[in-house]
Amino acid sequence: MHEKKIAVLVGSLRRGSYARKTALNVIEMFPAGYRAEIVEIGELPLYNFDYDDPNETGFPVPESYTRFRERIKAAAGVLFVSAENNRTIPACLKNAVDIGSKPNSDVAWKNKPTAIISHSVGKMGGYSASKNLRLALSYFDMPILGQPEVFLGNSPDLFDAEGRIHVESTRAFLQGHIDRFVALIEKHAA
Ligand SMILES: Cc1cc2nc3c(=O)[nH]c(=O)nc-3n(C[C@H](O)[C@H](O)[C@H](O)COP(=O)(O)O)c2cc1C
Repeated sequence: MHEKKIAVLVGSLRRGSYARKTALNVIEMFPAGYRAEIVEIGELPLYNFDYDDPNETGFPVPESYTRFRERIKAAAGVLFVSAENNRTIPACLKNAVDIGSKPNSDVAWKNKPTAIISHSVGKMGGYSASKNLRLALSYFDMPILGQPEVFLGNSPDLFDAEGRIHVESTRAFLQGHIDRFVALIEKHAA
């Protein structure tokens, strides 16, 4: 049986990002038969529709766009783990969402089961980023995991020196989220 791939998108480019640390923790929570991997988005050029506009010449689609779109399309599900910038998702993540949204005839996001984890260093856990991401994704007919919603507040306190989430209640909560996400993927595949 082929492993099911999960594309993990991290909404932060910062080296010490808590979103990235969270992603690396939850990647380990998927069951056997799944392989979750971060799909890097930091080098994707800013989205320009000229690349996808059949009426425009001289704008070849960047290879990095094609590679990114192929990795999303090959995935059984997409997991977003994001920081919040100015009450919405960071620009790098919105850029990736836009790149995956074109061309209209072959939208990479279409029908992909999805889960969203947001965090912030403050108490609100990136609530607004999560809701804004959900709004953007609502355009693509994606089954999005409804509950439990995951807003990780005070995120710096969650990790030990090795980057492992050491707060057991948070680990259990995240494991429950991943379990439900896997169930959504299995249901969708059936
Ligand atoms: C440009 C910018 C805007 C930010 N806006 C918010 C915000 O709207 N809400 C929030 O909770 N934190 C905000 N923060 C703080 C981030 O939560 C904090 O920098 C966090 O560590 C970023 O996530 P990361 O660790 O995954 O990079 C902002 C930080 C930056 C640099």
